[in-house]
Amino acid sequence: MSGSGKREISRRTFLNYALMGTGGFLAAGMITPMIRFAIDPVLKHSAGGDRVAVGSPDEFGADPKRVEFKVHTKDGWYETETTMTAWVTKDEKGQILALSPVCKHLGCTVDWNTSPEHPNEYFCPCHMGRYSVKGEHILNTPPLKSLDEYESEVKDGKLYLGKIIPNPRPGVNG
Ligand code: FES
Repeated sequence: MSGSGKREISRRTFLNYALMGTGGFLAAGMITPMIRFAIDPVLKHSAGGDRVAVGSPDEFGADPKRVEFKVHTKDGWYETETTMTAWVTKDEKGQILALSPVCKHLGCTVDWNTSPEHPNEYFCPCHMGRYSVKGEHILNTPPLKSLDEYESEVKDGKLYLGKIIPNPRPGVNG
């Protein structure tokens, strides 16, 4: 009896393990796609960074030109379309610089060449903030950082702007 009882327990234990294993395998197969579906938009958002065409590089030169473009963002299931502005220049080497117009002091909007006392600079009317044509903050004015810039790329005859990144240029004397 003890031999057959031992065999019986072993068989039952084996069946329990087999059932648990099969159940776990099936549950994992069902739950994984559900979790994936739940967090998928979040994953997609973090992998974003689409660039937007804003024109031909030939349209730009030493004088800043203002461009507007729309950026489609998806945060989870929430989708928005935002109009962005950039001030774009191209130097003699063909290097593009696209600056954000958001003042680094308190976030007002800067404009190009609008202060008669300080021509050929970006000017912030809120607290008289000033920046050079490269977005460098002018020392002894309120902003302590240079204007952010957009990632840019020229491809197939078009200028594409991407995400906003810090402008590494230090402040300069005005
Ligand atoms: S917000 Fe631009 S100078 Fe203050």
